[in-house]
Amino acid sequence: MAPSGTTRLAAVIGSPVRHSLSPRLHNAAFEAAGLDWTYVAFEVPAAGLRDALVGMRALGIAGLSVTTPHKDDAAALVDDLTPTAARLGAVNCIANVDGVLVGHNTDGEGFVRSLVAGAGFTPAGRRCVVLGAGGAARSLVLALADAGADEVVVVNRTVGRAERAAALAGDRGRVVAPALADSDLFDADLVVNATSVGMEGVDAHGLPCDPAVFHEGQIVVDLVYRPLVTNWIVEASAGGAWVANGVPMLAHQAAVQFEIWTGVPAPMDVMMAAVADSLG
Ligand SMILES: NC(=O)c1ccc[n+]([C@@H]2O[C@H](COP(=O)([O-])OP(=O)(O)OC[C@H]3O[C@@H](n4cnc5c(N)ncnc54)[C@H](OP(=O)(O)O)[C@@H]3O)[C@@H](O)[C@H]2O)c1
Repeated sequence: MAPSGTTRLAAVIGSPVRHSLSPRLHNAAFEAAGLDWTYVAFEVPAAGLRDALVGMRALGIAGLSVTTPHKDDAAALVDDLTPTAARLGAVNCIANVDGVLVGHNTDGEGFVRSLVAGAGFTPAGRRCVVLGAGGAARSLVLALADAGADEVVVVNRTVGRAERAAALAGDRGRVVAPALADSDLFDADLVVNATSVGMEGVDAHGLPCDPAVFHEGQIVVDLVYRPLVTNWIVEASAGGAWVANGVPMLAHQAAVQFEIWTGVPAPMDVMMAAVADSLG
């Protein structure tokens, strides 16, 4: 529906932000749910975050998605944090609740929902390996542990970051050096590439682990969605694993944001289709 005097506004803030899929994703969802909401993108440089949040309060913007480079700083600037966002020290979603800005982090919940919906996989009692220790990896480690994973092994180039990420899983978190990870990878029920390896413009050809570790019965996810098919996905699939790229998590973490802001169940099929359309 066309915006009117009563339309509620949500937006993504980040820099760069013009490539963001979120406006198409959320506008498709608002329309499908029959909601008088609209969603835009605001280019906000690193130094502009504080002013952007003042603007959110002043203008009554109902919800913000928060992307690079603001996720950590936003956690320090909002009025309140959910327990998950507080433990991660990072926010990817802000809800304006009567002028109180509440910071959420929906990546982990979106990831777990995408596993259940796509593969019928629940993390409880399972062995999980997360490659990477950046923002995405940290949210996965915490969510997998909270969902009852038996152990969460973190494999990352920089050991200090791996240790901080594994600590989010408490005594079920463990760090293994990349060169020594093959047996843990082979034994894992779930393996996730949460490094930037494979992403366009980073290292499109590198594999974050030896493809010989993949086999039938495993769930293998590459969080990369540009390109849609990475070398890693091809290798894991050839090994017999059930594979997914980053699209389902992208759609599901947005769905959690939609539900936080509107209180309405997200039209998941529409959101998945909107991402697929946008990425060709
Ligand atoms: N599908 C989704 O919804 C979704 C959501 C968020 C992120 N992602 C994807 O997840 C990936 C990570 O994002 P992020 O936000 O967590 O990034 P980040 O915070 O910058 O972390 C990057 C991670 O990749 C590792 N890395 C980078 N280049 C590497 C290389 N050449 N070899 C080995 N490791 C390398 C880094 O290791 P060091 O610690 O050693 O530097 C770090 O662990 C990206 O591809 C992003 O597009 C997808």
